[in-house]
Amino acid sequence: MESRTAIPAKGVDKKELLESMGQMASNDADWRNGRTWSMVYFAGDEHYDFMKKAHNTFFSENGLNPMAFGSLKRMESEVVRMSANMLNGDANVVGTMTSGGTESILMAVKAARERAKSGLKIGPRSPEIVAPRTIHVAFEKAAHYFGLKIRYAPVDENYQVDVKALRKLINRNTVLVAASAPQYAQGMIDPIAEIGAITQEMGIPFHVDACFGGFFLPWMERLGYELPVFDFRVPGVTSMSADVHKYGYSAKGASVVLYRDMSYLKHQFFVATDSPLGIYASPSMTGTRPGGSIAAAWAAMMALGEDGYLALARQTMDAVEALRDGVDAIPELEVLGSRHGSVVCIGARNKAVDIYALADQLQARRWHVDRQQFPASLHCTVTGHHLQYVPEFLADLQEGVAYLKANPSAASEGQAPMYGMMAKIPFRGAVKLSVLKVMEAMHAPGGGMPDIGSMGKDDDSSPLFKAMDKYGDRAMEVLDKIDDTRQNVRQAFDRATEKLRSK
Ligand SMILES: Cc1ncc(COP(=O)(O)O)c(C=O)c1O
Repeated sequence: MESRTAIPAKGVDKKELLESMGQMASNDADWRNGRTWSMVYFAGDEHYDFMKKAHNTFFSENGLNPMAFGSLKRMESEVVRMSANMLNGDANVVGTMTSGGTESILMAVKAARERAKSGLKIGPRSPEIVAPRTIHVAFEKAAHYFGLKIRYAPVDENYQVDVKALRKLINRNTVLVAASAPQYAQGMIDPIAEIGAITQEMGIPFHVDACFGGFFLPWMERLGYELPVFDFRVPGVTSMSADVHKYGYSAKGASVVLYRDMSYLKHQFFVATDSPLGIYASPSMTGTRPGGSIAAAWAAMMALGEDGYLALARQTMDAVEALRDGVDAIPELEVLGSRHGSVVCIGARNKAVDIYALADQLQARRWHVDRQQFPASLHCTVTGHHLQYVPEFLADLQEGVAYLKANPSAASEGQAPMYGMMAKIPFRGAVKLSVLKVMEAMHAPGGGMPDIGSMGKDDDSSPLFKAMDKYGDRAMEVLDKIDDTRQNVRQAFDRATEKLRSK
Protein backbone atom coordinates (compact mmCIF):
# COMPACT_ATOMS: atom_id res chain seq x y z
CA MET A 1 0.00 0.00 0.00
CA GLU A 2 1.32 3.40 -1.01
CA SER A 3 2.45 5.55 1.90
CA ARG A 4 0.60 8.88 2.19
CA THR A 5 2.28 12.23 2.50
CA ALA A 6 -0.72 14.58 2.44
CA ILE A 7 -4.35 14.58 3.51
CA PRO A 8 -6.32 13.30 0.50
CA ALA A 9 -8.00 16.11 -1.47
CA LYS A 10 -11.26 14.18 -1.32
CA GLY A 11 -12.27 12.05 1.65
CA VAL A 12 -11.79 8.31 1.10
CA ASP A 13 -14.64 5.83 1.35
CA LYS A 14 -14.98 4.66 4.97
CA LYS A 15 -15.41 0.99 4.14
CA GLU A 16 -12.23 1.11 2.09
CA LEU A 17 -10.41 2.81 4.97
CA LEU A 18 -11.50 0.17 7.47
CA GLU A 19 -10.18 -2.49 5.11
CA SER A 20 -6.87 -0.62 4.71
CA MET A 21 -6.48 -0.46 8.48
CA GLY A 22 -7.10 -4.18 8.72
CA GLN A 23 -4.41 -4.72 6.07
CA MET A 24 -1.94 -2.47 7.91
CA ALA A 25 -2.44 -4.57 11.04
CA SER A 26 -2.05 -7.88 9.26
CA ASN A 27 1.65 -8.18 10.13
CA ASP A 28 1.31 -6.87 13.68
CA ALA A 29 1.91 -9.05 16.72
CA ASP A 30 -0.98 -11.53 16.97
CA TRP A 31 -2.11 -10.96 20.56
CA ARG A 32 -5.52 -12.48 20.00
CA ASN A 33 -3.93 -15.86 19.39
CA GLY A 34 -1.68 -15.55 22.41
CA ARG A 35 1.51 -14.83 20.39
CA THR A 36 2.49 -11.71 22.40
CA TRP A 37 4.03 -12.18 25.83
CA SER A 38 3.70 -8.53 26.85
CA MET A 39 1.81 -5.34 26.04
CA VAL A 40 -1.73 -6.72 25.70
CA TYR A 41 -3.94 -7.95 28.55
CA PHE A 42 -6.87 -9.83 27.11
CA ALA A 43 -9.75 -11.04 29.26
CA GLY A 44 -11.81 -12.69 26.52
CA ASP A 45 -14.09 -11.56 23.71
CA GLU A 46 -17.09 -10.72 25.83
CA HIS A 47 -15.12 -8.36 28.10
CA TYR A 48 -13.32 -6.91 25.08
CA ASP A 49 -16.60 -6.00 23.34
CA PHE A 50 -17.94 -4.50 26.55
CA MET A 51 -14.78 -2.37 26.92
CA LYS A 52 -15.25 -1.00 23.42
CA LYS A 53 -18.84 -0.03 24.22
CA ALA A 54 -17.89 1.60 27.54
CA HIS A 55 -15.04 3.48 25.88
CA ASN A 56 -17.27 4.61 23.02
CA THR A 57 -19.92 5.90 25.39
CA PHE A 58 -17.48 8.60 26.57
CA PHE A 59 -15.45 8.80 23.37
CA SER A 60 -15.86 12.58 22.95
CA GLU A 61 -15.97 13.68 26.58
CA ASN A 62 -13.00 15.37 28.18
CA GLY A 63 -11.98 14.86 31.80
CA LEU A 64 -10.04 18.14 31.77
CA ASN A 65 -12.98 20.11 33.09
CA PRO A 66 -14.92 18.36 35.84
CA MET A 67 -17.45 21.20 35.86
CA ALA A 68 -18.52 20.22 32.36
CA PHE A 69 -18.32 16.44 32.77
CA GLY A 70 -19.33 15.59 36.32
CA SER A 71 -19.87 11.98 35.17
CA LEU A 72 -16.15 11.53 34.48
CA LYS A 73 -15.20 13.22 37.75
CA ARG A 74 -17.44 10.80 39.59
CA MET A 75 -16.04 7.76 37.75
CA GLU A 76 -12.46 8.91 38.34
CA SER A 77 -13.11 9.39 42.06
CA GLU A 78 -14.65 5.93 42.27
CA VAL A 79 -11.77 4.29 40.36
CA VAL A 80 -9.32 5.98 42.77
CA ARG A 81 -11.33 4.93 45.85
CA MET A 82 -11.79 1.32 44.69
CA SER A 83 -8.07 1.06 43.85
CA ALA A 84 -7.09 2.51 47.23
CA ASN A 85 -9.28 -0.07 48.93
CA MET A 86 -7.83 -2.91 46.88
CA LEU A 87 -4.34 -1.80 47.94
CA ASN A 88 -5.32 -1.59 51.61
CA GLY A 89 -5.30 2.18 51.84
CA ASP A 90 -7.37 3.82 54.57
CA ALA A 91 -10.02 6.53 54.08
CA ASN A 92 -7.31 9.24 53.82
CA VAL A 93 -5.73 7.77 50.70
CA VAL A 94 -6.29 10.07 47.71
CA GLY A 95 -5.11 10.18 44.12
CA THR A 96 -5.92 10.75 40.47
CA MET A 97 -6.18 8.80 37.28
CA THR A 98 -3.50 9.20 34.61
CA SER A 99 -2.96 7.97 31.07
CA GLY A 100 -0.70 5.09 32.13
CA GLY A 101 2.08 3.84 34.36
CA THR A 102 4.65 6.29 33.07
CA GLU A 103 2.45 9.30 33.74
CA SER A 104 1.63 8.01 37.24
CA ILE A 105 5.34 7.69 37.97
CA LEU A 106 6.14 11.10 36.47
CA MET A 107 3.50 12.56 38.77
CA ALA A 108 4.76 10.77 41.89
CA VAL A 109 8.30 12.03 41.22
CA LYS A 110 7.14 15.57 40.47
CA ALA A 111 5.01 15.61 43.65
CA ALA A 112 7.96 14.37 45.75
CA ARG A 113 10.25 17.01 44.28
CA GLU A 114 7.74 19.81 44.96
CA ARG A 115 7.06 18.53 48.47
CA ALA A 116 10.76 18.60 49.32
CA LYS A 117 10.91 22.24 48.20
CA SER A 118 7.73 23.35 49.95
CA GLY A 119 8.16 25.67 52.88
CA LEU A 120 11.88 26.12 52.11
CA LYS A 121 13.50 29.07 50.37
CA ILE A 122 15.89 26.68 48.65
CA GLY A 123 15.02 23.01 48.33
CA PRO A 124 17.60 20.25 48.01
CA ARG A 125 20.23 21.61 45.64
CA SER A 126 20.24 18.51 43.53
CA PRO A 127 17.12 16.42 44.26
CA GLU A 128 17.65 12.68 44.04
CA ILE A 129 15.63 9.48 43.78
CA VAL A 130 17.00 6.26 45.29
CA ALA A 131 15.72 3.06 43.68
CA PRO A 132 16.66 -0.54 42.83
CA ARG A 133 18.52 -1.06 39.54
CA THR A 134 15.50 -3.04 38.34
CA ILE A 135 13.04 -0.15 38.78
CA HIS A 136 11.06 0.72 35.65
CA VAL A 137 12.74 3.18 33.26
CA ALA A 138 9.85 5.59 33.78
CA PHE A 139 11.78 6.79 36.89
CA GLU A 140 14.81 7.58 34.74
CA LYS A 141 12.49 9.39 32.35
CA ALA A 142 11.00 11.36 35.27
CA ALA A 143 14.49 12.24 36.51
CA HIS A 144 15.43 13.30 32.99
CA TYR A 145 12.32 15.43 32.48
CA PHE A 146 12.22 17.03 35.92
CA GLY A 147 15.93 17.54 36.58
CA LEU A 148 16.56 14.94 39.29
CA LYS A 149 19.37 12.49 39.73
CA ILE A 150 18.66 8.83 40.21
CA ARG A 151 20.86 6.60 42.37
CA TYR A 152 20.52 2.89 41.78
CA ALA A 153 20.94 0.20 44.42
CA PRO A 154 22.08 -3.26 43.28
CA VAL A 155 19.79 -6.28 43.44
CA ASP A 156 20.68 -9.69 44.87
CA GLU A 157 20.81 -13.05 43.08
CA ASN A 158 17.02 -13.22 43.41
CA TYR A 159 16.61 -9.83 41.70
CA GLN A 160 15.38 -8.09 44.85
CA VAL A 161 17.04 -4.91 46.00
CA ASP A 162 19.88 -5.09 48.52
CA VAL A 163 18.26 -3.01 51.27
CA LYS A 164 21.55 -2.22 53.05
CA ALA A 165 23.04 -0.86 49.83
CA LEU A 166 19.88 1.13 49.18
CA ARG A 167 20.02 2.61 52.69
CA LYS A 168 23.56 3.80 52.06
CA LEU A 169 22.51 5.74 48.96
CA ILE A 170 19.98 7.88 50.86
CA ASN A 171 21.34 11.33 51.67
CA ARG A 172 20.02 14.82 52.37
CA ASN A 173 19.23 15.33 48.67
CA THR A 174 16.96 12.28 48.56
CA VAL A 175 13.40 13.43 47.87
CA LEU A 176 11.98 9.99 47.05
CA VAL A 177 12.77 6.33 47.57
CA ALA A 178 11.06 3.97 45.12
CA ALA A 179 10.77 0.20 44.75
CA SER A 180 8.64 -2.23 42.76
CA ALA A 181 5.78 -4.59 43.47
CA PRO A 182 6.75 -6.33 41.31
CA GLN A 183 9.49 -5.21 38.94
CA TYR A 184 8.80 -6.00 35.30
CA ALA A 185 11.95 -7.87 34.28
CA GLN A 186 11.77 -10.94 36.54
CA GLY A 187 8.49 -10.16 38.31
CA MET A 188 10.02 -9.93 41.80
CA ILE A 189 8.59 -7.86 44.67
CA ASP A 190 11.24 -5.76 46.44
CA PRO A 191 11.38 -5.96 50.27
CA ILE A 192 8.80 -3.20 50.70
CA ALA A 193 8.34 -3.64 54.47
CA GLU A 194 12.08 -3.35 55.17
CA ILE A 195 12.44 -0.30 52.94
CA GLY A 196 9.30 1.25 54.44
CA ALA A 197 10.75 0.90 57.94
CA ILE A 198 13.81 2.89 56.84
CA THR A 199 11.92 5.63 54.97
CA GLN A 200 9.44 6.02 57.81
CA GLU A 201 12.24 6.47 60.33
CA MET A 202 14.01 8.98 58.08
CA GLY A 203 10.81 10.82 57.06
CA ILE A 204 11.38 10.31 53.33
CA PRO A 205 8.51 9.64 50.88
CA PHE A 206 8.45 6.08 49.55
CA HIS A 207 6.73 5.19 46.27
CA VAL A 208 5.78 1.60 45.48
CA ASP A 209 5.54 1.10 41.74
CA ALA A 210 2.72 -1.40 41.43
CA CYS A 211 1.88 -0.33 37.87
CA PHE A 212 2.40 -3.89 36.71
CA GLY A 213 1.16 -5.89 39.69
CA GLY A 214 -1.22 -3.54 41.48
CA PHE A 215 -4.25 -5.19 39.89
CA PHE A 216 -2.81 -8.70 40.19
CA LEU A 217 -1.01 -9.23 43.50
CA PRO A 218 -4.10 -8.51 45.68
CA TRP A 219 -5.96 -11.36 43.95
CA MET A 220 -2.95 -13.69 44.15
CA GLU A 221 -2.91 -13.10 47.89
CA ARG A 222 -6.64 -13.80 48.09
CA LEU A 223 -6.02 -17.07 46.22
CA GLY A 224 -3.69 -18.09 49.03
CA TYR A 225 -0.27 -17.40 47.51
CA GLU A 226 2.23 -16.20 50.09
CA LEU A 227 3.65 -12.85 49.09
CA PRO A 228 5.69 -10.23 50.92
CA VAL A 229 3.49 -7.33 52.01
CA PHE A 230 3.71 -4.69 49.29
CA ASP A 231 1.07 -1.97 49.71
CA PHE A 232 -0.34 0.71 52.07
CA ARG A 233 -0.26 -1.84 54.92
CA VAL A 234 3.42 -0.84 55.18
CA PRO A 235 3.30 2.42 57.16
CA GLY A 236 6.33 3.91 55.39
CA VAL A 237 4.68 3.67 51.95
CA THR A 238 3.51 7.16 50.99
CA SER A 239 2.47 6.66 47.37
CA MET A 240 1.67 3.90 44.89
CA SER A 241 0.91 3.54 41.19
CA ALA A 242 -1.27 0.80 39.68
CA ASP A 243 -2.31 0.43 36.04
CA VAL A 244 -5.91 -0.37 35.25
CA HIS A 245 -4.92 -0.93 31.61
CA LYS A 246 -2.71 -3.87 32.61
CA TYR A 247 -4.17 -6.53 34.95
CA GLY A 248 -7.22 -4.30 35.52
CA TYR A 249 -8.16 -5.34 31.93
CA SER A 250 -9.31 -1.87 31.00
CA ALA A 251 -8.89 -0.09 27.66
CA LYS A 252 -5.43 1.46 27.17
CA GLY A 253 -4.78 4.85 28.76
CA ALA A 254 -5.70 4.20 32.40
CA SER A 255 -3.62 4.13 35.58
CA VAL A 256 -3.99 5.46 39.12
CA VAL A 257 -1.48 7.27 41.29
CA LEU A 258 -2.35 7.16 44.99
CA TYR A 259 -0.98 9.03 48.00
CA ARG A 260 -1.31 8.30 51.69
CA ASP A 261 -3.05 11.66 52.18
CA MET A 262 -3.61 15.07 50.66
CA SER A 263 -0.35 16.47 52.07
CA TYR A 264 1.42 14.46 49.33
CA LEU A 265 -1.12 14.67 46.49
CA LYS A 266 -1.40 18.46 46.64
CA HIS A 267 2.14 18.75 45.25
CA GLN A 268 1.07 16.94 42.08
CA PHE A 269 -1.37 19.66 40.99
CA PHE A 270 -0.70 22.47 38.57
CA VAL A 271 -2.54 25.79 38.67
CA ALA A 272 -2.06 28.82 36.41
CA THR A 273 -3.94 31.95 37.45
CA ASP A 274 -2.88 34.65 35.03
CA SER A 275 -3.44 33.25 31.57
CA PRO A 276 -5.89 34.96 29.20
CA LEU A 277 -7.38 31.47 28.87
CA GLY A 278 -8.74 31.85 32.37
CA ILE A 279 -7.86 30.08 35.61
CA TYR A 280 -6.40 26.72 34.63
CA ALA A 281 -6.17 23.87 37.10
CA SER A 282 -4.85 20.49 36.04
CA PRO A 283 -4.32 17.43 38.24
CA SER A 284 -1.84 15.55 36.03
CA MET A 285 0.49 15.83 33.01
CA THR A 286 -1.95 15.89 30.14
CA GLY A 287 -4.30 18.71 29.23
CA THR A 288 -7.17 16.88 27.55
CA ARG A 289 -8.03 13.74 29.52
CA PRO A 290 -9.78 11.20 27.27
CA GLY A 291 -13.20 10.41 28.73
CA GLY A 292 -13.17 6.97 27.13
CA SER A 293 -10.17 5.77 29.17
CA ILE A 294 -11.67 6.94 32.46
CA ALA A 295 -15.07 5.44 31.67
CA ALA A 296 -13.62 2.13 30.48
CA ALA A 297 -11.50 1.82 33.65
CA TRP A 298 -14.54 2.34 35.83
CA ALA A 299 -16.60 -0.07 33.73
CA ALA A 300 -13.86 -2.75 33.78
CA MET A 301 -13.60 -2.70 37.57
CA MET A 302 -17.37 -2.74 38.03
CA ALA A 303 -18.03 -5.44 35.41
CA LEU A 304 -15.28 -7.82 36.50
CA GLY A 305 -15.77 -7.36 40.22
CA GLU A 306 -13.75 -9.31 42.79
CA ASP A 307 -15.05 -12.61 41.47
CA GLY A 308 -13.99 -11.77 37.92
CA TYR A 309 -10.51 -10.63 38.98
CA LEU A 310 -10.08 -13.73 41.16
CA ALA A 311 -11.07 -16.03 38.29
CA LEU A 312 -8.68 -14.26 35.90
CA ALA A 313 -5.87 -14.43 38.46
CA ARG A 314 -6.49 -18.17 38.94
CA GLN A 315 -6.28 -18.78 35.17
CA THR A 316 -3.17 -16.62 34.95
CA MET A 317 -1.44 -18.57 37.71
CA ASP A 318 -2.38 -21.85 36.00
CA ALA A 319 -0.72 -20.56 32.82
CA VAL A 320 2.32 -19.26 34.79
CA GLU A 321 2.79 -22.61 36.52
CA ALA A 322 2.44 -24.59 33.27
CA LEU A 323 4.95 -22.32 31.54
CA ARG A 324 7.45 -22.40 34.43
CA ASP A 325 7.27 -26.17 34.71
CA GLY A 326 7.77 -26.48 30.96
CA VAL A 327 10.81 -24.18 30.95
CA ASP A 328 12.27 -25.95 34.01
CA ALA A 329 12.04 -29.20 32.06
CA ILE A 330 14.29 -27.89 29.27
CA PRO A 331 17.82 -28.56 30.57
CA GLU A 332 19.44 -25.69 28.61
CA LEU A 333 17.05 -23.07 30.03
CA GLU A 334 16.12 -21.74 33.45
CA VAL A 335 13.49 -19.48 34.99
CA LEU A 336 15.18 -16.43 36.51
CA GLY A 337 13.94 -15.09 39.84
CA SER A 338 11.92 -17.04 42.35
CA ARG A 339 8.19 -17.09 42.05
CA HIS A 340 6.24 -13.96 42.90
CA GLY A 341 3.70 -13.37 40.19
CA SER A 342 2.73 -13.36 36.58
CA VAL A 343 6.17 -13.15 34.93
CA VAL A 344 8.21 -16.00 33.53
CA CYS A 345 11.70 -14.75 32.78
CA ILE A 346 13.72 -17.23 30.74
CA GLY A 347 17.53 -17.36 30.83
CA ALA A 348 20.09 -19.77 29.38
CA ARG A 349 21.58 -22.29 31.82
CA ASN A 350 24.72 -22.62 29.76
CA LYS A 351 26.44 -20.91 26.88
CA ALA A 352 25.32 -23.59 24.40
CA VAL A 353 22.23 -21.49 23.84
CA ASP A 354 22.39 -17.83 22.90
CA ILE A 355 19.25 -16.32 24.39
CA TYR A 356 18.92 -13.64 21.70
CA ALA A 357 19.26 -16.27 18.96
CA LEU A 358 16.48 -18.16 20.76
CA ALA A 359 14.36 -14.99 20.55
CA ASP A 360 15.02 -14.95 16.79
CA GLN A 361 13.90 -18.57 16.59
CA LEU A 362 10.68 -17.73 18.44
CA GLN A 363 10.13 -14.68 16.28
CA ALA A 364 10.47 -16.84 13.15
CA ARG A 365 7.62 -18.90 14.63
CA ARG A 366 5.63 -15.65 15.14
CA TRP A 367 6.00 -15.38 18.90
CA HIS A 368 6.73 -11.97 20.36
CA VAL A 369 8.88 -11.96 23.53
CA ASP A 370 10.82 -9.04 25.06
CA ARG A 371 14.62 -9.34 24.81
CA GLN A 372 16.07 -8.20 28.15
CA GLN A 373 19.65 -7.51 29.24
CA PHE A 374 21.70 -7.76 32.48
CA PRO A 375 21.18 -10.73 32.42
CA ALA A 376 20.30 -11.68 28.84
CA SER A 377 16.82 -13.12 29.12
CA LEU A 378 13.39 -13.39 27.54
CA HIS A 379 10.40 -11.90 29.29
CA CYS A 380 6.91 -13.38 29.30
CA THR A 381 4.07 -11.44 30.91
CA VAL A 382 1.49 -14.18 31.37
CA THR A 383 -2.31 -13.84 31.37
CA GLY A 384 -5.02 -16.47 31.65
CA HIS A 385 -5.57 -16.17 27.90
CA HIS A 386 -2.11 -17.72 27.38
CA LEU A 387 -3.06 -20.97 29.12
CA GLN A 388 -4.27 -22.66 25.92
CA TYR A 389 -1.13 -21.56 24.01
CA VAL A 390 1.50 -22.70 26.55
CA PRO A 391 1.98 -26.21 25.05
CA GLU A 392 2.61 -24.79 21.55
CA PHE A 393 4.97 -22.15 22.91
CA LEU A 394 6.94 -24.75 24.90
CA ALA A 395 7.18 -27.01 21.84
CA ASP A 396 8.56 -24.09 19.79
CA LEU A 397 10.94 -23.18 22.61
CA GLN A 398 12.26 -26.75 22.65
CA GLU A 399 12.55 -26.79 18.86
CA GLY A 400 14.42 -23.48 18.95
CA VAL A 401 16.89 -24.81 21.53
CA ALA A 402 17.48 -27.99 19.50
CA TYR A 403 18.04 -25.91 16.36
CA LEU A 404 20.59 -23.66 18.09
CA LYS A 405 22.49 -26.63 19.48
CA ALA A 406 22.67 -28.18 16.02
CA ASN A 407 23.49 -24.82 14.36
CA PRO A 408 25.72 -22.75 16.66
CA SER A 409 26.37 -20.28 13.81
CA ALA A 410 22.74 -19.09 14.18
CA ALA A 411 23.97 -16.91 17.06
CA SER A 412 25.79 -14.72 14.55
CA GLU A 413 22.83 -14.37 12.21
CA GLY A 414 19.59 -12.35 12.33
CA GLN A 415 19.08 -9.87 15.17
CA ALA A 416 20.96 -11.87 17.81
CA PRO A 417 24.46 -10.39 17.30
CA MET A 418 23.17 -6.82 17.44
CA TYR A 419 21.23 -7.41 20.68
CA GLY A 420 24.13 -9.41 22.14
CA MET A 421 26.70 -6.76 21.39
CA MET A 422 24.52 -3.85 22.50
CA ALA A 423 24.08 -5.54 25.87
CA LYS A 424 27.79 -6.23 26.27
CA ILE A 425 29.47 -3.05 25.04
CA PRO A 426 30.90 -1.34 28.13
CA PHE A 427 30.66 2.17 26.63
CA ARG A 428 26.99 2.81 27.34
CA GLY A 429 27.20 6.44 26.15
CA ALA A 430 28.20 5.20 22.68
CA VAL A 431 25.29 2.73 22.68
CA LYS A 432 22.91 5.55 23.65
CA LEU A 433 24.14 7.82 20.86
CA SER A 434 23.76 5.02 18.34
CA VAL A 435 20.22 4.25 19.45
CA LEU A 436 19.37 7.96 19.29
CA LYS A 437 20.60 7.92 15.71
CA VAL A 438 18.24 5.04 14.93
CA MET A 439 15.39 7.05 16.47
CA GLU A 440 16.26 10.03 14.31
CA ALA A 441 16.14 7.80 11.24
CA MET A 442 12.77 6.37 12.31
CA HIS A 443 11.27 9.81 12.79
CA ALA A 444 12.88 11.52 9.80
CA PRO A 445 10.65 12.40 6.82
CA GLY A 446 9.68 9.08 5.27
CA GLY A 447 11.27 7.20 8.18
CA GLY A 448 10.06 3.69 8.91
CA MET A 449 10.89 0.69 11.03
CA PRO A 450 14.61 -0.11 11.53
CA ASP A 451 15.84 -3.51 10.38
CA ILE A 452 17.85 -4.54 13.43
CA GLY A 453 19.40 -7.52 11.62
CA SER A 454 21.00 -5.32 8.97
CA MET A 455 22.07 -2.41 11.15
CA GLY A 456 25.57 -1.16 10.45
CA LYS A 457 25.34 -2.07 6.79
CA ASP A 458 24.15 1.23 5.34
CA ASP A 459 26.13 4.45 5.01
CA ASP A 460 24.02 6.31 7.55
CA SER A 461 24.62 3.81 10.36
CA SER A 462 26.35 5.04 13.48
CA PRO A 463 30.11 4.28 13.65
CA LEU A 464 29.42 1.90 16.54
CA PHE A 465 26.94 -0.19 14.54
CA LYS A 466 29.29 -0.16 11.55
CA ALA A 467 32.15 -1.41 13.73
CA MET A 468 29.88 -4.05 15.26
CA ASP A 469 28.86 -5.19 11.80
CA LYS A 470 32.44 -5.27 10.52
CA TYR A 471 34.14 -6.98 13.45
CA GLY A 472 31.09 -9.11 14.44
CA ASP A 473 32.42 -12.38 15.89
CA ARG A 474 35.82 -11.04 16.93
CA ALA A 475 34.19 -8.12 18.76
CA MET A 476 31.86 -10.57 20.50
CA GLU A 477 34.79 -12.66 21.75
CA VAL A 478 36.46 -9.59 23.24
CA LEU A 479 33.20 -8.41 24.78
CA ASP A 480 32.60 -11.87 26.25
CA LYS A 481 36.05 -11.78 27.84
CA ILE A 482 35.42 -8.32 29.29
CA ASP A 483 32.07 -9.55 30.58
CA ASP A 484 33.62 -12.66 32.19
CA THR A 485 36.34 -10.55 33.83
CA ARG A 486 33.77 -8.10 35.12
CA GLN A 487 31.73 -10.92 36.62
CA ASN A 488 34.80 -12.51 38.22
CA VAL A 489 35.81 -9.18 39.77
CA ARG A 490 32.27 -8.65 41.05
CA GLN A 491 32.12 -12.16 42.56
CA ALA A 492 35.52 -11.68 44.24
CA PHE A 493 34.34 -8.32 45.58
CA ASP A 494 31.07 -9.84 46.89
CA ARG A 495 32.99 -12.67 48.58
CA ALA A 496 35.38 -10.20 50.23
CA THR A 497 32.47 -8.00 51.40
CA GLU A 498 30.66 -11.03 52.80
CA LYS A 499 33.80 -12.07 54.69
CA LEU A 500 34.20 -8.60 56.18
CA ARG A 501 30.50 -8.51 57.17
CA SER A 502 30.68 -11.87 58.92
CA LYS A 503 33.74 -10.84 60.98
C1 LIG B 1 6.64 -2.00 36.87
C2 LIG B 1 6.20 -1.06 35.78
N1 LIG B 1 6.14 0.26 36.04
C3 LIG B 1 5.76 1.14 35.10
C4 LIG B 1 5.42 0.74 33.82
C5 LIG B 1 5.05 1.77 32.78
O1 LIG B 1 3.74 1.64 32.36
P1 LIG B 1 3.20 2.27 30.99
O2 LIG B 1 3.83 1.49 29.89
O3 LIG B 1 1.72 2.09 31.08
O4 LIG B 1 3.58 3.70 30.94
C6 LIG B 1 5.47 -0.62 33.52
C7 LIG B 1 5.14 -1.12 32.18
O5 LIG B 1 5.27 -2.28 31.86
C8 LIG B 1 5.87 -1.55 34.52
O6 LIG B 1 5.95 -2.87 34.29
